[in-house]
Amino acid sequence: MASRKTFYIETFGCQMNVHDSEKVIGTLEHHGYARVETEEAADLILYNTCSIRDKAEQKVFHRLNDYKSLYRQGKRFGVLGCVAQQEGERIFERAPFVSLVSGSASYRKLPEMLVQIEQGATRVTGLDDRQTEETFETEFTARSNPHRGYITIIEGCDKFCAYCVVPYTRGKERSRRSQSVLDEAQRMADSGFTEIQLLGQNVNSYRDPDGRRTFAELLAAVGVVPGIRRVRFTTSHPRDFTRDIVQAIDAVPALCDHVHLPVQSGSSKVLRLMQREYTREQYLERIGWIREAKRTISLTTDIIAGFPGETAQDFEETMDLLDQVQYDGVFAFKYSPRPNTPALSMADSIPEEEKSKRLQVLLDRQREIQRVNYEKHLGEVLEAMVEGVNPARAQIVGRTSQNKTLNFTTGQPIAPAPGSYLPVRVTKTFPNSLVGEALA
Ligand code: SAH
Ligand code: SF4
Ligand code: F3S
Repeated sequence: MASRKTFYIETFGCQMNVHDSEKVIGTLEHHGYARVETEEAADLILYNTCSIRDKAEQKVFHRLNDYKSLYRQGKRFGVLGCVAQQEGERIFERAPFVSLVSGSASYRKLPEMLVQIEQGATRVTGLDDRQTEETFETEFTARSNPHRGYITIIEGCDKFCAYCVVPYTRGKERSRRSQSVLDEAQRMADSGFTEIQLLGQNVNSYRDPDGRRTFAELLAAVGVVPGIRRVRFTTSHPRDFTRDIVQAIDAVPALCDHVHLPVQSGSSKVLRLMQREYTREQYLERIGWIREAKRTISLTTDIIAGFPGETAQDFEETMDLLDQVQYDGVFAFKYSPRPNTPALSMADSIPEEEKSKRLQVLLDRQREIQRVNYEKHLGEVLEAMVEGVNPARAQIVGRTSQNKTLNFTTGQPIAPAPGSYLPVRVTKTFPNSLVGEALA
């Protein structure tokens, strides 16, 4: 019998991709493949790709160009994820050494597709389009962290923002049954997980196929699963952000003090051009609900700088929104034109230089806001979940409920175990992290 087949997988992009890879790994291992850490040691090399911005996509094709000699040695290549779904069979033309192209809606067929490749097929595809109703549920998930794990509760996106590839790469919105989510949460708790992160491109657009629980009810239910100490959820879409989500956070201690609510722009005009389906005022109303919570909830966001038609005045409105909301973190990117999207044909594109300038101005302002925000934690005692040790600095790396990095010392010779929770007093602050000492 031939020796065990091996595979290497590398993941690009968002948490949904990271979690999909965990499911792909579990599925392949169940079908007799062994995972290896290097491309050299692998028979099968998989890239789980992202195409959200042009740079992310180019990275993948750049890699695939180098593989002629490895192919001759008998290695096979597969492209998974969003570039795979977006480019489909064109990938075989651009990268002739690729044998497998599969989007996320087809992963349950991976074992069959791999059998075809073993039998000599050179162009195998799994490119189910927007029609699928299936979610990728499997009991073979190989989670990489034994304490903190993801559960995808909704896949795909039906929002069609003018700039975005996701509705084309991940198909239509489809939710997983809430009971199945809760069963998985319980199984995770039973095997030692204490933190669960619920995932979806728009996690709060969740609709229970059985109609048993709203998103807020599901959140609350996961938050009371015995053994679960922290629950996070990402990404929330402002249009579907309802007040009962804040009420759930107030009512259930395990729900973390953090909401990621991407605004994209502070100008209602730009939001309309982006087809975001909310105005600046409606967004700020939701921020108001979050600020009225009994607990202090940390806010983070995503912003696109230089969307077509964004004037200097529109950009000023985004800067003004930053001042008003006082986010604890902002993921900001220059607008990147993407295939298939309506924004491609929009007038008034902004020169690259100007986009870069706006992005820098925004990041500078935000850094100052964060410096002040983080400073407010000085002297507080926060609960940190231990993630690991930073040997270079002799510090324990922890994370707070608000999702802030808290590096600390304990004064003990033995470091606390990853996954444990400790009270830590904050002694120093930076714009992106906190430093502290564990209480004895
Ligand atoms: N569903 C989430 C976001 C998913 S994509 C939401 O609607 O908020 C993650 C982030 O990538 C987006 O929030 C957006 O800020 C950024 N992004 C998406 N398409 C982009 C593009 N074409 N150019 C630049 N940034 C983009
Ligand atoms: Fe993209 Fe908009 Fe869907 Fe978010 S809501 S994934 S930005 S289309
Ligand atoms: Fe990228 Fe696809 Fe996620 S485009 S950001 S990997 S949904």
